[in-house]
Amino acid sequence: MRVAMIGTGYVGLVSGACFADFGHVVTCVDKDASKIDRLHKNIMPIYEPGLDALVEQNVREERLFFTTDAKEAIADADAVFIAVGTPSRRGDGHADLSYVYAAAEEIAELIDGFTMIVTKSTVPVGTGDEVEEIIRKKRPDADFAVVSNPEFLREGAAIKDFKIPDRVVVGTDSERARELMRELYRPLFLNETPILFTARRTSELIKYAANAFLAVKITFINEMAELCEAVGANVQEVSRGIGLDGRIGNKFLNAGPGYGGSCFPKDTLALTKTANDHNTPVRIVDTVVEVNAARKKAMAGKVIKAMGGDVSGKTIGVLGLAFKQNTDDMRDAPSLDIIPALIEAGAIIKAFDPEAMEEAAKLMDGLNYVENAYEAVDGADAMVILTEWDQFRALDLDRIKESLKSDIVVDLRNIYSPEDMAKRGFEYTSIGRPS
Ligand code: UDX
Repeated sequence: MRVAMIGTGYVGLVSGACFADFGHVVTCVDKDASKIDRLHKNIMPIYEPGLDALVEQNVREERLFFTTDAKEAIADADAVFIAVGTPSRRGDGHADLSYVYAAAEEIAELIDGFTMIVTKSTVPVGTGDEVEEIIRKKRPDADFAVVSNPEFLREGAAIKDFKIPDRVVVGTDSERARELMRELYRPLFLNETPILFTARRTSELIKYAANAFLAVKITFINEMAELCEAVGANVQEVSRGIGLDGRIGNKFLNAGPGYGGSCFPKDTLALTKTANDHNTPVRIVDTVVEVNAARKKAMAGKVIKAMGGDVSGKTIGVLGLAFKQNTDDMRDAPSLDIIPALIEAGAIIKAFDPEAMEEAAKLMDGLNYVENAYEAVDGADAMVILTEWDQFRALDLDRIKESLKSDIVVDLRNIYSPEDMAKRGFEYTSIGRPS
């Protein structure tokens, strides 16, 4: 099949490369000429493990193309995917759909013959109806179907999530579109991936409901961690103890400094706005948004407390800046709350992240970015782990101990064992576990 992918952000680029790898002919379109230029040179706009190799191979085998010219891509496409950004609108938290609607206007002009227009961007319920109306108004003669096909990929594991998904959700009432979507996802059918066909509005809601539910799960275990700290229990064991119950499941029960990233903060907020607009508030998600924001703010206090209540003039070696491992994404990263608060309290920060320092430097100044973990802790009064990168999981702790001025380690991702750290003579603080 011939596919046009509008937008070469995370979702667009990964989906485009993976559809090409399934054997379809995919043209990715972006208005940003320098981005397309770099893609032609196989320079990725984001850090995602395995993506450059996948793009390189599919470009070489002439199944994947990049262009700024939407016309060329759309005119003979069977499916046109809208994978543009839907950021939070400033002020009210609603998803900003201006890019989606602009794409619909452009697509309307260019489609030729039966075409599926598929929204992969995360869009509020009813957006498909709007897209359909925009296209119908401009091209009353056109033969098309608007389909919702939300993406559930996680940054850092995006290719695997695309190729081995838990499920594929397709929202449309057009039988013809269903057939084409089956064709597009045929390799997954062969792997027996469940493909769920629903009405378009249901599919749009599934995406928000999934992300909100996961945010609830994380926030629940984060509150349990607080309780564990108060009563002397161990949150990792609580997670395991409840997670072994098949009805609960063991995933997304790692307590930490609060969720961040490009999806959960934006999508939970957008869901609560939609729900309030329809006078059916989802109070549990309202609370989760509030609790998570407060948690990220409270984490600097935890570090300050572990350092004796005063960090003025003290140096802190920070390991990890990205909102999670295996990404350079800094959107809503807990580090953006924690580090400025520590600087405000008088601390001197030396920070290292394997991929996110360039992004972080655009958002935070007043700290020293260094070359590796050991340099960050050299002569520091404490080591603070903010992101669970694999390379921080097996540090040479003897070397760390020698380099640090004190023995204080604050681990906001629970990647070390309290017993082991105590044995090694560290003053170790983690999340929801007795030290
Ligand atoms: C998420 C969804 O998982 C994905 O399906 C959707 O398409 C986009 O949003 P992503 O934002 O890439 O993906 O990251 P994810 O791995 O889900 O983590 C989100 C946040 O939750 C991170 O800040 C992470 O550190 C935090 N988290 C996750 C926890 O604190 N504990 C957990 O157990 C899991």
